Amino acid sequence: MNTNSMTKIIGLLGHPVKHSFSPQIHNYLCEKYKQNNIYCCFDVENKKLKSAVESIKTLDMIGCNVTIPHKVDIMRYIDKIDKNAGIIGAVNTIKNIDGKLIGFNTDGVGFVKSILEKGYTLKNKKVLIIGAGGACRSICVELASEGISYLEIRNRSIDKAEEIGKIVKTNFNLDVVYDTKPIDENDLNKIDILINTTPIGMESNLCPIDERLIPKGNLLVCDIVYKPHNTAFLNWAKKNNLDVVHGIDMLINQGLHAFYIWTGIKATKEDEEYIKDLYNKI
Ligand SMILES: NC(=O)c1ccc[n+]([C@@H]2O[C@H](COP(=O)([O-])OP(=O)(O)OC[C@H]3O[C@@H](n4cnc5c(N)ncnc54)[C@H](OP(=O)(O)O)[C@@H]3O)[C@@H](O)[C@H]2O)c1
Repeated sequence: MNTNSMTKIIGLLGHPVKHSFSPQIHNYLCEKYKQNNIYCCFDVENKKLKSAVESIKTLDMIGCNVTIPHKVDIMRYIDKIDKNAGIIGAVNTIKNIDGKLIGFNTDGVGFVKSILEKGYTLKNKKVLIIGAGGACRSICVELASEGISYLEIRNRSIDKAEEIGKIVKTNFNLDVVYDTKPIDENDLNKIDILINTTPIGMESNLCPIDERLIPKGNLLVCDIVYKPHNTAFLNWAKKNNLDVVHGIDMLINQGLHAFYIWTGIKATKEDEEYIKDLYNKI
């Protein structure tokens, strides 16, 4: 990668950041699309967050990604927040437009794209989602934006599911069903899409549902856990001849959408495949 006196910075603000895959995604895209930008990671502790955000303006940076633990706190330091990011209550991408910082959330958008690009539609679909954390919240908002007709959340504790339910009802007039009970075959038989948003299965062979369950109908099964690539949950789905969406697709698509926000350039399917290969080589 060549840099010169005109090179501008795109950053990642988080703590920690050393395991991030984002530099590989964005430096590849900057080089391919001849953007004179460089993507760098900045390990920023809570107490330095405000001054790190001010640096985006001071250094005339293109913008940044935001990761754990700053996605919520950073909202108080930026100038404007995109509608869905405001509803979600978290920002993972900032664009610097002439010294004004605009916040977006690309997690849910990336997830939705990973479903649409497999040829599925979301309008009027019935969705059951496991987990009720930050990722679930952004996915639920984007699914509701796409016009799904039924949303049910299963989480081990009810309060976060209830909170997401209120957000979705208030902003999209969609009633959300929530419960703490384990998923059974009746649950599976009434939905079109099943999504795991818990970390269960991350670097383990645990499954967020009972692997003895056998769904009757057709069902799209999505896991947002990306390590391992084939989680126990996705293996259960494949064993039952169900189509699956892998967590890596969301990870890459949320990055591609951030690149689009910064540059106006839409990366191609080939870019996505190239980045997936890069990821598999790590
Ligand atoms: N593919 C991607 O691009 C992408 C993007 C974001 C996140 N992720 C992955 O998604 C997962 C969740 O991330 P997040 O940011 O949403 O995390 P989070 O905010 O901590 O939420 C985790 C959710 O999972 C539930 N949970 C956690 N451990 C559980 C267990 N052992 N049994 C049952 N439920 C459990 C939690 O339940 P309680 O509410 O009861 O605590 C919570 O609702 C992580 O593995 C993360 O790496 C992937």
